Amino acid sequence: MIARLRTVVFPVAGLGTRFLPATKVVPKEMLPLMDRPLIQWAADEAVAAGADTLVFVVNRHKRAINDHFDLAFELEQRLEAGNKTELLKVVREILPQQVRPVFVLQSEARGLGHAVLCARPAVAEGSFGVILPDDFIVNREGPGALAQMAQVQAEMGGSVVAVEPVEWKDTGKYGIVAGAEVGARVSRIDSIVEKPRPDVAPSNLAVVGRYVLDTRIFDLLERTKPGAGGEIQLTDGIAALLAEQPVHAYRFDGVRYDCGTKFGYVHATLQLALDDPEIGAQVRRLMQEHRLADT
Ligand code: G1P
Repeated sequence: MIARLRTVVFPVAGLGTRFLPATKVVPKEMLPLMDRPLIQWAADEAVAAGADTLVFVVNRHKRAINDHFDLAFELEQRLEAGNKTELLKVVREILPQQVRPVFVLQSEARGLGHAVLCARPAVAEGSFGVILPDDFIVNREGPGALAQMAQVQAEMGGSVVAVEPVEWKDTGKYGIVAGAEVGARVSRIDSIVEKPRPDVAPSNLAVVGRYVLDTRIFDLLERTKPGAGGEIQLTDGIAALLAEQPVHAYRFDGVRYDCGTKFGYVHATLQLALDDPEIGAQVRRLMQEHRLADT
């Protein structure tokens, strides 16, 4: 069975202070990796998992995200008049025709759990995906991370969160899960906790920004009290969900780049540049030259 996820939620109302001053006016999700903004890489991953409804949870400073997914009438007209068919295709294919973007406001920054809850009116009953665009995941050989997770959900039921091992010293930056292995790359979670210190973390298996959740999570998030950092945490909603249904931790196939940090962002850019058919060889040469110059 080929699984698909109809609705994917993108919580994108965060501030992006790590990239100031670049993000003073431009939302961090609009920063480009090569020729596409982060949000578009995320949207592409959702569409590849079968999504036809993309729910962007934004605030009043994220207008550029709406504009990116809107029809650019003048631009298209000009490209058409100038016979720039290739470019016209690039602009038109930002979203395939069958895909509908929906924008939901999160007026107050009350946490990731609250952001997901804001999407509730736009999400149909059943399972839905969540992508945090900062966590950029590339799987060169096969399906994207969210498509892999949709498959796991279809086979095993319940909900699924993407995880990867991190260094113990970094547990305080992530949701951390513990559980028992129940299949290839899959374990059933028995505890999940938001940003524990290394000395109290139940494992070093960290949640990264991909979730396939049962809509049951919404009722639970309604009741979730502010947790770590005084915010309503998605992790705490998932902890409540554990009492009702299996939640699986899935070690996805692919490489994650934390584009919420400068290093991760540069790393992702470099990798995409090296893989690019147009400039890859040139970038490789440049790196080799630098190595020679440094030694
Ligand atoms: C959020 C989640 C955390 C998760 C992380 C993945 O944290 O709260 O559980 O591990 O995303 O990137 P944030 O990075 O927003 O602080």
